[in-house]
Amino acid sequence: MRIAVFDSKAYDEQALNNANREFGYELAFFGDRLGRTTVPLARGFDVVCPFVNDRIDADTIASLAAENVRLIALRCAGFNNVDLQAAERHGIRVVRVPAYSPEATAEHVFALLLTLVRKTHRAFNRVRDGNFSLDGLVGFTLHGKTFGVIGTGKIGQATLRIARGFGCRLLAYDLYPNAQLAAEIGFEYAALDDIFAQADILSLHAPLAANTHHLINAASLARMKRGVVMVNTSRGGLIDSQALLDALKEGHVGGVGLDVYEHEEGVFFEDLSGEALQDDVLARLTTFPNVMLTSHQGYLTEEALANIASTVLGTVAAFARGGELPNEVRTSA
Ligand code: NAI
Repeated sequence: MRIAVFDSKAYDEQALNNANREFGYELAFFGDRLGRTTVPLARGFDVVCPFVNDRIDADTIASLAAENVRLIALRCAGFNNVDLQAAERHGIRVVRVPAYSPEATAEHVFALLLTLVRKTHRAFNRVRDGNFSLDGLVGFTLHGKTFGVIGTGKIGQATLRIARGFGCRLLAYDLYPNAQLAAEIGFEYAALDDIFAQADILSLHAPLAANTHHLINAASLARMKRGVVMVNTSRGGLIDSQALLDALKEGHVGGVGLDVYEHEEGVFFEDLSGEALQDDVLARLTTFPNVMLTSHQGYLTEEALANIASTVLGTVAAFARGGELPNEVRTSA
């Protein structure tokens, strides 16, 4: 099998090459994202391996089919960036990595959250500047706070388990509630509006779809408690960024941790330190002391990268053998 890896970074290359010792496939690594203009790079490959910000729309898929690509092996869990109907029309199968380390992303939620509520990012800078004053560093205790989770899938569950360890009261919403899971972890399912009204901390773990796009908007923000701290490690499109910016300026939102951003494509994962940031909303978000932005690194642990690489190559091996294809994504998924 010949595999073209798109939007590839040094850490992807290292993890895939390590895992490939077991498989011996021909791997080519491209820094470009897969899209209409970069499809020619896939010429002669059986498989393309894109990531979260590659845009695999109907045109791209038609061109991939013309290049005889037969499998899109996403090296991520989300698949909102692939036109599944177009893939089915062209007979290209799509697979993903459904769970490479839910704990990695869940732990990142708390990296962001604890930074925000204990202001360690500010303390770090102060102490390095010889300023040992504590003024302005008063935080709040997580113990006893109401922690709301939207989406009780793999990452939502891992987040709830950690939040339970902090002694939070746990509320959650999911389109498909699982009573057994709620009893086992010790959380209660509640209506979205009740979570918005009661949560001191809100963590987003639902996938991006038509019914979750801008789930957090001016109206839902207005229903939240003043001072709410929100963390989004799911997909940027869940939040209307302009509405969030307004709520931050007004002081209604107490803090925000964002590992994803709705217009992150072309910005996140890139070193733009020598350029003017063109996105004014993102640029403004970086100016708040109570906003912690990370560049979609929730998954970025050695363990998760190794899992991703071995899952991708294992799925390609199953595809090569024919028959049942694990981790396949279909339009009905
Ligand atoms: P999952 O598929 O295990 O769970 C998603 C949950 O959301 C399911 O329980 C589903 O029923 C629920 N859901 C679907 N539509 C909903 C709606 N409208 N309202 C409420 N709940 C809804 O997915 P997993 O592995 O927990 O990942 C969650 C998201 O995290 C992914 O969709 C992906 O976008 C993102 N992600 C981010 C990473 C990062 O590095 N920041 C790494 C991996 C995933």
